[in-house]
Amino acid sequence: MTKPPLDLYLAAPRGFCAGVDRAIKIVEMAIQKWGAPVYVRHEIVHNKFVVDSLKAQGAVFVEELTDCPDDRPVIFSAHGVPKSVPAAAEAREMIYVDATCPLVSKVHIEAERHSENGLQIIMIGHDGHPETIGTMGQLPDGEVLLVETVEDVATVDVRDPEQLAFVTQTTLSVDDTKDIVAALEARFPAIQGPHKEDICYATTNRQESVKAISAHIDALLVVGAPNSSNSRRLVEVGARNGCAYAQLVQRDTDIDWRALDGITSIGITAGASAPEVLVNEVIDAIKARYEVTVKEVETAKENVEFKVPRVLRVPG
Ligand code: F3S
Repeated sequence: MTKPPLDLYLAAPRGFCAGVDRAIKIVEMAIQKWGAPVYVRHEIVHNKFVVDSLKAQGAVFVEELTDCPDDRPVIFSAHGVPKSVPAAAEAREMIYVDATCPLVSKVHIEAERHSENGLQIIMIGHDGHPETIGTMGQLPDGEVLLVETVEDVATVDVRDPEQLAFVTQTTLSVDDTKDIVAALEARFPAIQGPHKEDICYATTNRQESVKAISAHIDALLVVGAPNSSNSRRLVEVGARNGCAYAQLVQRDTDIDWRALDGITSIGITAGASAPEVLVNEVIDAIKARYEVTVKEVETAKENVEFKVPRVLRVPG
């Protein structure tokens, strides 16, 4: 049987960002340095495939520091942690390595600096996401207020409208965040904030490349995990920019082939925590059913790299 033709638009950049790459390296190097088991508080990055391969090397994933023994090293995930977590590890004299992405740490520092200047912080983020919990946990309760939507801006109860700053989660929708920032500036004209917002280069670039392919495609598959904020935003960006069908898939087995019936073009991208091996798995599954012509659409070049913490670079 002849396979139907299909144009496959591959968005670039896609997949691993520098923060995810560094966090995975940190766990691998910690296992090399201290031997297994090395504990990891929270999924190091939101991807089951990555987590399972680190488990196979000797990482043990736990949700809380109280689940770790005192005498084994513990790694904190790329999303960042509230200040209370390293403080508790220090009190227990544990060895810990913080794999918080440097671009998330930058937001933590920003929030602290504003607070030192007497400002109350409004964080634009998703309630319950580990990054939001980590950033809000840099300051005492009540010093950081969360807004998730434009509607929340109308009701947020601030201490002093003249003494405010905002920070954002790094993995938000660029377009939604612009609207929320505009609403904040309209209600609180004195509010201070970063020049643009805190959305990182990787999130921005992946959303831009999806926008660039959306007009050409009948369907979009985003390789990523359901709890990965930046992956879910990519599905939304595709749907909003003219793509009739957009689906998040973790593996090739998640593809809903019936939904793809009759399409002549498809786009593929991957969230910042999804490895390229999974993108290739999805492409291979498509190639098994269609006569595929691949067109890579690159909207930015990335050459960001973050060093691992010094403790892992020195022997002993
Ligand atoms: Fe860091 Fe952005 Fe990746 S904040 S972990 S570079 S998605």
